[in-house]
Parts: sequence; structure tokens; C-alpha cells
Amino acid sequence: MKILTIIGARPQFIKAATVSRVIKKIENCTEILVHTGQHYDENMSDIFFDELGIPRPDYNLGVGGGSHGAQTGEMLAKIEKVLFKEKPDYLLVYGDTNSTLAGALAASKMHIPVVHVEAGLRSFNMKMPEEQNRILTDHISTLLFTPTDTGYSNLLKEGINDSSIYNIGDVMYDAAMYYGKKAQNNTNILEKLNVKYKDFILATIHRAENTDNIERLTMIFDELSNVAKTKKVILPLHPRTKKSLENINFNFSESKISFIDPVGYIEMVMLEMSSKLILTDSGGVQKEAFFHKVPCITLRDETEWVELVEAGFNFLAKDLKSLETLIGEVLSKSFDYDKYSFYGKANAANKVIDFLKVNK
Ligand code: UD1
Ligand code: UDP
Repeated sequence: MKILTIIGARPQFIKAATVSRVIKKIENCTEILVHTGQHYDENMSDIFFDELGIPRPDYNLGVGGGSHGAQTGEMLAKIEKVLFKEKPDYLLVYGDTNSTLAGALAASKMHIPVVHVEAGLRSFNMKMPEEQNRILTDHISTLLFTPTDTGYSNLLKEGINDSSIYNIGDVMYDAAMYYGKKAQNNTNILEKLNVKYKDFILATIHRAENTDNIERLTMIFDELSNVAKTKKVILPLHPRTKKSLENINFNFSESKISFIDPVGYIEMVMLEMSSKLILTDSGGVQKEAFFHKVPCITLRDETEWVELVEAGFNFLAKDLKSLETLIGEVLSKSFDYDKYSFYGKANAANKVIDFLKVNK
């Protein structure tokens, strides 16, 4: 069985790490890894291959930056060429990035079965590039693996046949458990940043809806700067957000936010596990907060991970001006994380490959 996997953005390296590890152990199964190049900085790409033991990509298409159309179009053309050459049995894609859509579209037009891991998620906000990518990818996929019950029922509601959908849980849960244990003994990030366990807030911001809207961007960073006057706030800065803040002449030296460069996954997991609260607009980080039993405030109006909001582990900061009040409220609550397993009970990566073997 030959699987051609498309990856390109930071969260996809982490998802692929768990599945690639399983593929490596299977006899007569080859994985061709294609990196679109969507993320290309050392600390947005290479670092994950090195520390998570992901095999070096067989192809790097070098398509980073640019507008959505140009980026997706160039990926599509380049992936098609690789597919003609490699002729895989399956094309495997993760999540909802432009790399995901380009891969799925290239394969679907060549009648190569598309396998979508992390299918079925919806924000019901069609302005999000990710929502467009998810819906289009799901509707041209042959096998759809959902991480949650909600994802499964979203697909049924859109008319996708239940014989193609499997709710297997979340491959990111596998990663969080596996690397969470390793992180304990393999990083000194807390010492490096001079912070104490459970004595700081961890924040990440990179969503287009926050970085490309000057009013929202300004409000978010003003609010975070206010919070940072009384509480330590560590913020690994995504390159997209850095550029947006530079464009509005954000005063980095005046703000008390502790900005750091993006970190590798092991350091990130350690920061997550050690923080007392997470503020984020990241999809992956919202779930990791739950996996590592840390309360989370999401700086968006909606989320695809609705079960965390419904169960009261994640709070949507719809009114950014009340962020400090919301932080106070959340920090005064206690949470019973052990009652819930919204994302399966691990081994999602094994399930993906087991299904592919059976369907081959
Ligand atoms: C992409 C995904 C988003 C995902 C995020 C993960 C799409 C539409 N968006 O958003 O769903 O949550 O990745 O982090 O696919 N840049 C660099 N160096 C890098 C990578 C990016 O400087 O290594 C800068 C470039 O200016 C680039 C911009 O960030 O143009 C945006 O990068 P892009 O990959 O297009 O989108 P993300 O915001 O990273
Ligand atoms: N992450 C990381 N280093 C960082 C910030 C995030 O390793 O500096 C990890 C994080 O733990 C999660 C993934 O990157 O596993 C999430 O990626 P991102 O927030 O970029 O994308 P999203 O999940 O929103 O698509």
C-alpha cells in the first residue's frame, strides 16, 4: 500500500508525526511525504521534523507565502505532477489549510482516493479560509475520519454517506499524550524564560480574522498588554502576527507581554502543561489546553471545538473589552477534566491505518 501524505503547515507536522510513526511499522506500506512549503521558517517547519522524528519529506514544493489563490493554485499544479509520478493508492490530508485543499483537489481530479483526517469540523463562518477548505475537502474525500461526534453528525447533515465516515478520535490527542510525557524531562524552557509552574498565562494569536482586522488586532494586543501589567503573559509570536503588528507600529518595547519566537512542540507542550491559563485563537491549542487540563479562553466569536465550550472548559471571548473580567472569572473556577473524553481514548493514528488496510 502506498500512501502519499500532504503536509505544509505547523499543526500538520504534529498530526502527521503520530500517523507516520504507525505507517513506519507496517510491512508493505510506504509513505511518500510531500511538504508544500506553506510554512518554511526553521521554527515553523524543520524543528518539528527534527524533534518529532518525522521522516524528511520526499518532496518540498517550496510554495510559501502569497495570496490564497496563488498559493493554492501553485500547490495544486505541483502536487498533480508528483501524483502522476508516484501513483499512490491513497492521498492523505490533515485539517483545513490551503495545503489540505490543494492536495485533496489534485488527487480527486485524478480519481485517487482522498483520506481526510480531522474531517467534519465546522465553524459555520464561511468567511474563514479554513471553513472553505474543510467543506470543499470533505466533499471530495473518499474516507473521512472525524475527531468528534459533532464532526460526524456535521457530515451526515451535509449528505455525506455514513459508510465513508469514521469517528476515530483525535490524532492530536495521541501526540499530546506521547510528547507530553517526553516534555517533562526534555526541556528547560521554564528556567530559560524564568517562569514558575502555574504562574503565567500562555497566549497564541494567528487567525486571519484577528491579524488582518486592524481594529481587532489592536484591541486584542491592547487587552493582552493590560493583562500583562499584573500577570506574566508569554506569547510565542506567529510570523503572520509579527508582520501585522509591525504594520500597525505596535510598540513591542512598551508592552509587558513576554514575546518569544515560535517554539518547537516539546517546549510548547511544556509551556501548555505549566501555564495556569491559555488564551488563544488556535484550533490545536484549544484542545491541547483540555488535554493538559488547563482552562482556556478563545479569542474568537465561534469555535469548531464546540464540546469544550458546551462543557465549560473553554470560554469564547466574544467581548474583547471584558477580557480581564473573564480571565478573573475563569481563574476562580475549578474543573473536572477526568469525566470527559471528547476526543477518543488515544490510538486514533492506528485506527486510520487499520481502516486503510481493510479498504485497500
Ligand atoms: C495557516 C493556515 C491556518 C493554520 C495556520 C497554522 C491557511 C489558509 N491557513 O495560516 O489554518 O491555523 O497556518 O499556523 O492555510 N509566514 C512566515 N514564515 C512561515 C510561515 C508563514 O513568515 O514559516 C508568514 C508569511 O508572511 C505568510 C504568512 O505568515 O504569508 C501567512 O502564512 P500562511 O501559511 O499563508 O497562513 P497562516 O496564517 O500561517
Ligand atoms: N505550537 C508549537 N509552537 C508554537 C505554537 C504552537 O509547537 O510556538 C503547536 C501547538 O502546540 C499545536 C499546533 O502548534 O500543536 C497548533 O498550531 P497553530 O496554532 O499554528 O495552528 P492551528 O491549530 O490553529 O491550525
